[in-house]
Amino acid sequence: MRKNIVAGNWKMNTNLKEAKKLVKGVRKGIKKLELDSTRVIIAPPFVNLPTAIKRAKKSKVEVAAQNMHQATSGAFTGEVSGEMLKGIGVQTVILGHSERRAYFGEKDAVLKEKVDSALTQELEVIFCFGEELKDRQADKHFKVVEDQLKKALFHLEANSYKNIILAYEPVWAIGTGETASPEQAQEIHAHVRTLLAKKYDEELAESVSILYGGSVKPANAKELFANKDVDGGLIGGAALKAEDFIAIIKSI
Ligand code: G3P
Repeated sequence: MRKNIVAGNWKMNTNLKEAKKLVKGVRKGIKKLELDSTRVIIAPPFVNLPTAIKRAKKSKVEVAAQNMHQATSGAFTGEVSGEMLKGIGVQTVILGHSERRAYFGEKDAVLKEKVDSALTQELEVIFCFGEELKDRQADKHFKVVEDQLKKALFHLEANSYKNIILAYEPVWAIGTGETASPEQAQEIHAHVRTLLAKKYDEELAESVSILYGGSVKPANAKELFANKDVDGGLIGGAALKAEDFIAIIKSI
């Protein structure tokens, strides 16, 4: 069954003191909400994961990592493995974020390895995909999204998708204030569901949560989340203020 999910990608933000304050604010804010089956996930930077996990304990706040290396250990200076993340209690990892693709050269082949490694280690994956402005301007956005999914995910068996959350993040909407319109989000989400149905089957296509990310704010969240195929959001800037993140959760 598809779940509503609001995940906050903190990116490279919050020192220890700020992280403690933000976790506390999110934890306090969701206490007053009737979340039902909605999941609330925060993704702090690596160094703040243990603190966030400790302070989120016994609450409905889940803690995810923003990335991981595909190897389980080895000479990869500066990297963190899935095994290390599991060792501190992380169960979910974001992979394929456009900033990893753009700034750290993560291509589809590496992302396929990372997805395989995460699933083998029984981590849940939030897999990000989305077109750049030039792709949309050239009317190639459907093809770009299709290729990203095919190259990194479509080798998987159907049952792997119980541990996969998809996140459509048009690159031109990330951090720009240029949010995709509800129609633009819905058409890509529906297209992804059609691709999943063709590759696997309708039941799987209907079961996978597809989040929208890219300048989601309290003012636009309700309209975005009202779409049939939008199952929540992957939030960047607005996740750094507890009151805004809670306001977005309330919009589900
Ligand atoms: O992963 C979520 C992020 O890329 C969206 O960022 O600041 O546009 O909400 P933002």
